[in-house]
Amino acid sequence: MKRLLSILAAIVFALQLVPYGRKHSNPPVLREPNWDSPATAATFDAACADCHSNQTRWPWYSFVAPASWLIQKDVDEGRAKFNVSEMGRAKNDADEAAEIVLSGEMPLKPYLPLHPEARLTPEQRRQFAAGLAATFGREGGHGGAGQGSETEQEAEEAEGH
Ligand code: HEC
Repeated sequence: MKRLLSILAAIVFALQLVPYGRKHSNPPVLREPNWDSPATAATFDAACADCHSNQTRWPWYSFVAPASWLIQKDVDEGRAKFNVSEMGRAKNDADEAAEIVLSGEMPLKPYLPLHPEARLTPEQRRQFAAGLAATFGREGGHGGAGQGSETEQEAEEAEGH
């Protein structure tokens, strides 16, 4: 038994030597959305921002392999698809956010046990999705702010926002 434990400890120790996921970074926040309401922004912060912004909160276990590898992968892939800290960049699937929340696909299930604040009731889901649609627009819908438009963003910049 003792022998088994020391073998396990040696394995866990060895995993820590793999460089991937050992250091985490939060790149600069370039441009944030015009949230339709503080409630939408707050829910996003609680349920989505760790994987879809450059303001990830990295908990202690995110530095311990093998959890660190899985978390690094989720954040890298999440940011690559949709990042609220980089609005206006060419590839940003913000317009899919409302639908994906309604479908229940996001937030990712493995995230929930350690983040109870990210759990949404059906009613919260509906309200949040409406807020996301109003903020980011919806494919083929009339979602409001329409953050994709370059001219709108230039106009905003000219106004000094
Ligand atoms: C634990 C990390 C994590 C959390 C939390 C999370 N996501 Fe994601 N999200 C991902 C990953 C990884 C992908 C890319 C893989 C995929 O599409 O399944 C993704 C993809 C997406 C996409 C792009 C889908 C596409 O196919 O282009 C949208 C939009 C999205 N998430 C919205 C959200 C919203 C809204 C929330 C909060 C309710 C959220 N996510 C919470 C990790 C996360």
